[in-house]
Amino acid sequence: MLVLGLESSCDETSAAVVKVADKKILSNVISSQHKTHRPYGGVVPELASREHLRNLIPVIDEALEKAGCRLEQLEGLAVTYGPGLNGALLVGLNAAKGLALSLNIPWIGVNHLEGHLLAAFLEYPEIDYPFLGLVVSGGHTNLYRVENDREPVCLATTRDDAAGEAFDKVAKLLDLGYPGGPAVDKSAKTSQLKNIEFPLPVMKDKSMDFSYSGLKSSVRRYVQELKKNNLKPDGAEIAWAFQKAAITPLIKAVLKVAQNSGIKTIVAGGGVAANSYLRLKLCEVAATANLKVYISSLSLCMDNAAMIAYAGGKRLMRGERSPWNLAAVPNLTYGVLKC
Ligand code: KG4
Ligand code: ZN
Repeated sequence: MLVLGLESSCDETSAAVVKVADKKILSNVISSQHKTHRPYGGVVPELASREHLRNLIPVIDEALEKAGCRLEQLEGLAVTYGPGLNGALLVGLNAAKGLALSLNIPWIGVNHLEGHLLAAFLEYPEIDYPFLGLVVSGGHTNLYRVENDREPVCLATTRDDAAGEAFDKVAKLLDLGYPGGPAVDKSAKTSQLKNIEFPLPVMKDKSMDFSYSGLKSSVRRYVQELKKNNLKPDGAEIAWAFQKAAITPLIKAVLKVAQNSGIKTIVAGGGVAANSYLRLKLCEVAATANLKVYISSLSLCMDNAAMIAYAGGKRLMRGERSPWNLAAVPNLTYGVLKC
């Protein structure tokens, strides 16, 4: 099935053409809005919607051209309908409805988190169930047990801020620039000193959940304390210590569940899976605990429409369809809660 995917949940406008059964990306065009939002240090929802409106049609045209495919050749359409920014989601969702209606092809609304979870299949078609899926992004920090194509079980999640959100806020605090995650990652690599230790963002109860708002506050207090004493914070060392604290519990949780469940395959996705320290540590753990780890390349970790085309395409091939009155769902959840 030849599927056009559309993604507009946050600050990337993306369109992709994917041959779903072959797990083959024919094109994956991503237009980032970083320039628009940079002066504000974060995503401005109204501006994001307007940018999506401006960019979506040219991005679709480019995706079709790169794939060497005409609109009439499409056999299905998949679009993110949540979670994300309401106005931003509506742009993609309504474009998808209009296109599907005019082309008379089946279409489906896709959960953005399912897209992140399945993105790695497009580069590693050999991935097999069951696997543990780590989805870490600007809005989510979820660890899933994935047995089959159906809704996975959520084993651990964040009780407050998401990991990516913490990266963004710490980058702002340290004046490292926007977008925050890559800036922290880059700065941490330059750290000469490695003496600071921040508390790990884990819960004190027995659950495996994460809690990133405390870690963010620790970093803020640390910086404030230095400034109060007229000392200049070492941004790189703080970035390094924060990154280590932010990533360590994710790696520990993956290892613990893998050992307890006997599941040997780990799949990671979402923007924070682009983090170099996370990638390194996951690979180290894989080597020592004899696990297979699959992490997509950077462009498939970030928001993109190929993952949406693939996740939606699989559902379309199973005969699933969305109703015409499907609405955008900004706080859409994913996974059956175990905890
Ligand atoms: O998946 P994504 O593109 O959008 C959401 O679904 O949220 O993830 C964006 C998040 C942002 O918080 C960004 O700062 C973070 O991923 N991110 C990173 C890195 N690259 C992006 N965080 C840490 N290290 C990175 N290299
Ligand atoms: Zn995302």
